[in-house]
Amino acid sequence: AIERTFSILKPDATERNLTGAINAVIEEAGLRIVAQRRIRMTDAQAKTFYEVHAERPFYGELVSFMTSGPVVVQVLEGENAVAKYREVMGATNPAQAAEGTIRKRFAKSVGENSVHGSDSPENAKIEIAQFFTDSDIVG
Ligand code: CMP
Repeated sequence: AIERTFSILKPDATERNLTGAINAVIEEAGLRIVAQRRIRMTDAQAKTFYEVHAERPFYGELVSFMTSGPVVVQVLEGENAVAKYREVMGATNPAQAAEGTIRKRFAKSVGENSVHGSDSPENAKIEIAQFFTDSDIVG
């Protein structure tokens, strides 16, 4: 089914001017960028977004990294978009990511791993709603 997922191009990607290169991988995979905005995430936004990881030892580091520079928030649309984007991103840890994936090609480390993608259609809806309204999304 045609689905939407939420994506973030993280500060390590914007810092190295990789947003176009990553968007090219996304589009070559058949995903359509139906909403996109470059923002500086606030501390409150990052804390809320990563609330599920609040008890993890890396939470503080994660929030400070995500607010350390510009990010690009996106809505991607396509057939099985959630699973498809996770495949295109590759494993969270770039050392374990498959050849040709975004994280294998561009990520620096498990923390500075260039992209985020929703892990389920339910979470995609929640995450999209944190950054976009319906009228921002043009399919
Ligand atoms: P993301 O998909 O954005 O969701 C949670 C993030 O936590 C994950 O990507 C990683 O970038 C980050 N993360 C996971 N494990 C670690 C770790 N050990 N140290 C720092 N960040 C981590």
